[in-house]
Amino acid sequence: MYEERFDKRKFDELRPMEAETGIIPNAKGSARFKIGNTEAIAAVYGPEEVKPRHIEKVNKGIIVCKYDMLPFSVPDRARPGMDRRDIEISQVITNALNRAVILEEMPRAMVNVRIYITQADAGTRCASLTAASMACADAGLPMRDLVAAVAAGKIGDSICLDLTKEEEDFHEGGATDVPIALLPSKNEIVLLQLDGKVTREELKKVIEMGKKGAMEIYELEKAALKRRFLNESKS
Ligand code: CDP
Repeated sequence: MYEERFDKRKFDELRPMEAETGIIPNAKGSARFKIGNTEAIAAVYGPEEVKPRHIEKVNKGIIVCKYDMLPFSVPDRARPGMDRRDIEISQVITNALNRAVILEEMPRAMVNVRIYITQADAGTRCASLTAASMACADAGLPMRDLVAAVAAGKIGDSICLDLTKEEEDFHEGGATDVPIALLPSKNEIVLLQLDGKVTREELKKVIEMGKKGAMEIYELEKAALKRRFLNESKS
């Protein structure tokens, strides 16, 4: 049984969040997204010439995305270089961004997205995707929508939003983690993964809770982008 959350949050409550864009002057677009003790920064380069040339697409652009945990982001220093987990996360983030960015408007071009986790306390792929989509918007890429992402899941018998690492590791009754990413204005899910066990009915509730959480994150993302462009038009 998991009746009260370790950090006293309500079961459908997100951790405190921060979002800002334009944090890296030398990138075309950039953003930072923090949720609880998980923080991701993203930098976008391009659209630019495709290298290596043979991966170029005549009718559309391509996104190359790399997710990286900085060594000091976790209690046991993360090993530098891409491991299988980093490759998987980079791929699912790329798949989601491919739905958000209108690639058809960037033929023969390439966009590089670099994501760094400075602090990890679960939910890093979702925080990365949220930061990356804000960075793409900050870079002025043509987009269908921002991506808002958060994990929901089950701890013991309780359906929960935005699990911490401590909650993910809760063994009594087991924890289930379901990262969900949404194009909110289209109500389109662009990432959905499942780690653990749930019934069909529980999964429906988890997805509903995740979508509601994503809508809150969406508002924060939009506010961060508005702040940036209002400040720019003043200066
Ligand atoms: O981060 P996310 O929940 O998207 O992916 P995960 O593979 O389920 O990882 C869950 C959490 O495990 C991470 O957010 C980190 O807090 C932690 N982790 C770690 O401590 N050391 C690693 N090398 C990888 C993950």
